[in-house]
Amino acid sequence: MNERKSIHGQWSSKLAFILAATGSAVGLGNIWKFPYITGENGGGAFVLVYLLCIALIGIPIMMAEVMLGRRGRRSPINTMALLASEEGKSNGWVALGWMGVVAGFLILSYYSVIAGWAMSYVFRTGSGMFVGATADGVSSIFTDFISDPEKLLAWHTIFMVMTMIVVARGVKNGLEKAVTLLMPLLFGLLLLVVGYAMTTGHFQQGLDFLFTPGPITGDAVLIAMGHAFFTLSLGMGAIMVYGSYLPKSTSITQAAFAVALADTAVALLAGMAIFPIVFANGLEPGAGPGLIFKTLPIAFGHMEGGILIGVSFFLLLVFAAWTSAISLIEPAVAYLVENRGMKRVYASVWIGVATWLVGIGSVLSFNVWADKTWSLPFIFENKNFNFFDTLDYMTANVMLPLGGLFIAIFAGWLMREQSSREEMNTWSWAYKAWRFLVRFVAPLAVIIVFLKAVDAI
Ligand code: TRP
Repeated sequence: MNERKSIHGQWSSKLAFILAATGSAVGLGNIWKFPYITGENGGGAFVLVYLLCIALIGIPIMMAEVMLGRRGRRSPINTMALLASEEGKSNGWVALGWMGVVAGFLILSYYSVIAGWAMSYVFRTGSGMFVGATADGVSSIFTDFISDPEKLLAWHTIFMVMTMIVVARGVKNGLEKAVTLLMPLLFGLLLLVVGYAMTTGHFQQGLDFLFTPGPITGDAVLIAMGHAFFTLSLGMGAIMVYGSYLPKSTSITQAAFAVALADTAVALLAGMAIFPIVFANGLEPGAGPGLIFKTLPIAFGHMEGGILIGVSFFLLLVFAAWTSAISLIEPAVAYLVENRGMKRVYASVWIGVATWLVGIGSVLSFNVWADKTWSLPFIFENKNFNFFDTLDYMTANVMLPLGGLFIAIFAGWLMREQSSREEMNTWSWAYKAWRFLVRFVAPLAVIIVFLKAVDAI
């Protein structure tokens, strides 16, 4: 068996897959979300838990997702149906595919709103309005911006249209080449901002904040684990669907390590760029989702060539967000094409419009609905969540880890060893290490973190 082919085509090479998966992984999660949740959750210990989760949970589950995708060669929903039947297991496993489709759709709805912020900052930085600006000035520019729902809506709309266009054309056409060039450029610009951060006199304080562990709460551990899933695009089928376009000969082990390494490097660099600026300007590390928009413009306003560097930086951030966004709806689009016989174009438009509509809730969360908040059961009982916070929390910290848990159980326990060994096709020690992690370490870790977050242990 196993000359199964995806009806959506195949990556042209192993590098193409690594680039696409890196494009999916590296995005707002690394540059926008990682610094702000690290700031909100106290730094060092949070970063340490996050790194452990990447190594012990993220990498094995990424390998499992790619492996399942390549074996099924269909959208995650149909892959789960097919593999469950091949392994003689319940058809109920399609629910895993469905949860992923819903999670991806919900994540994209707010992801697009934040990507819109980054787009607007391309123009704001370009206009020179940050040149010589004070920290207070930069913060109030941000506050004014997000209090205007029409602006946020306009940018959200533009970003969703951009996403629909690429998904409609098929994710494999064209983006590969752009990623090759633009990802290293983004990396280079981040290094420049880190260079600026070194001149603030607070670089060491930034490093201490990031890397010196202190006490940590159960909630923070859950957020760190949820972020490991989010940043690697795991738990909802995005990597599975990319795996379904992967040529047979590629080493899944090497690909997963390459993607995880690149992703982690970008996140840590973003942290090293941002926290020294936070401390040098007396800003709050826990400033929330606006953190990068309140700090990076200070750097661009004060460094040599700051306008050009800043414009390029935000442009590349938008690009990184774009290559992530397409992977969030690819599983849903692939499903509609396979099962409803829809044309790619229509499938993308339908899903895009629905995502856009839900995104309006997140647009309003920062202004008109800012005081419409509630508390969630079990978690952060003293904290108020608005629409955006709720979506972010439920997807990243509940749905993705749950999806990952079931992926690990399926790949590690339900699939016959012979099937996973054959599909993984890697060195024997690597297979054994993977199997141990995916059977025991990853599922137990997810369960323990869940229980800890609800104070059950
Ligand atoms: N990983 C991306 C980021 O860090 C976001 C993302 C893309 C994602 N695809 C995903 C998150 C699938 C979860 C699941 O910005």
